[in-house]
Amino acid sequence: MLTRRTLMKGALVAGAFAGGGLAGRFGGIANARAAMPLVARRSEALITDKGPTRGVMTYGDAEIPPVLRMRRGELFNLRLDNRLDEPTTIHWHGLRIDNRMDGVPFLTQPYVYEGDGFDYAFTPPDAGTFWYHPHCNTLEQMGRGLAGLIVVEDPADPVFDAEIVLNLRDWRLGGDGQFIAQFKPRDAARAGTFGTVRTANWRQSPQYDAPAGGLVRLRLAATDVTRILALSVEGADALVIAADGNPAAERFAPDHLMIGPGQRLDLVLRMPDTEGAVAALKDLRGTRPATLATFRAVGASLKRNIADLPALAANPLPEPDLSAATELPFILSASAEERPKDGICGSLGYNFWAINKVPWADDTGDPTAPLAEMKAGKTYIFNVENPTPQVHPLHLHGLVFKPMNSNKQAIRPHFSDTYLILPDEKVQLALVADNPGDWVFHCHIIEHQKTGMTSYVRVT
Ligand code: C2O
Ligand code: CU
Repeated sequence: MLTRRTLMKGALVAGAFAGGGLAGRFGGIANARAAMPLVARRSEALITDKGPTRGVMTYGDAEIPPVLRMRRGELFNLRLDNRLDEPTTIHWHGLRIDNRMDGVPFLTQPYVYEGDGFDYAFTPPDAGTFWYHPHCNTLEQMGRGLAGLIVVEDPADPVFDAEIVLNLRDWRLGGDGQFIAQFKPRDAARAGTFGTVRTANWRQSPQYDAPAGGLVRLRLAATDVTRILALSVEGADALVIAADGNPAAERFAPDHLMIGPGQRLDLVLRMPDTEGAVAALKDLRGTRPATLATFRAVGASLKRNIADLPALAANPLPEPDLSAATELPFILSASAEERPKDGICGSLGYNFWAINKVPWADDTGDPTAPLAEMKAGKTYIFNVENPTPQVHPLHLHGLVFKPMNSNKQAIRPHFSDTYLILPDEKVQLALVADNPGDWVFHCHIIEHQKTGMTSYVRVT
């Protein structure tokens, strides 16, 4: 049972040093051994200064979906209670868990109908920053709010002076603060349809307090359905300590660092020494730079040294054996095949994209054959080519890969679940197929995902 105490405790951890009344709306639920209920429901939220936005979808009791806290190697139990007026599921993005818990309708579980529930139970093997969202009518459900962060803790991780968790996303709202059409077909065939209001934790440019001269762990996820970010921190030193859940081999400053929908970053932020000084997280992509959130130094300086931060605890990741790898081709392309206009998980009614020439018929599946069959324990190299003019954040469920050998960008050797492939890029993603099941492989620009750029691979 979710008691007031566990709620309070979660809120305190999640919202540590979240000033300006933000801690309260932030929510936060601590791990529990008994299944905790998580309600998916319709609500309203104060996102703009035009009054509440109606028709929002959220999880839990607070305005914004709670940060779910788990512990590496410990059982996590949650009962999804669907009080929406349509079917849904939950996918645990980046967690290498049992296929039956993966949340993909038909492929791994039945839909969870309105009024119904589903028990998710799994043990996360890796510590880090992850996120959760539906895998049904995804553009609508995520566009309206259903996306929350997951923090998997490792007791061996270094202690920070504060932690701030940021859910970075946009909303497609009109001038009156109410939802407008989620997408335009001609944009879905290009970079995707952009939101109009940018937020961090459902607030426009919120400010958080953190101890002056302290080391802050900033955990962020790009949960938007469309927008790719180029992140920089101004007014404080910052280093990337983990990306897509896994510790970075070498720390580096985020300098226009591109991350796409689905990707996460953990930064260490060394707060300014002077009380009241403010640092900013910015998105510098495109022509209109945006301040996503700011951080204000409070108190006397703790005078920490960013170089003194110990390493994060390592995750038990499977190292690919390149000497015995099988190569598999994955070619992204445009497509214009006719498609059915309906599906239980909401078809957008178009095909614009395909993988290996097959446009996927949506979340609903009725799956054709998998694009590849892999043997458990063996190493594979995905040779992915993007001859399209768009950038695509490609996400693989259930497994982690190591990007290598790109013709377009310098690769930092690093385990990940989402790779941002550039136009005309060819990249190799090496992985060990160590988790049996059917695993979806798709673009995380949801309009691309829902108009064909989805498929799956099978591990037996
Ligand atoms: Cu983040 Cu298939 O999902
Ligand atoms: Cu895409």
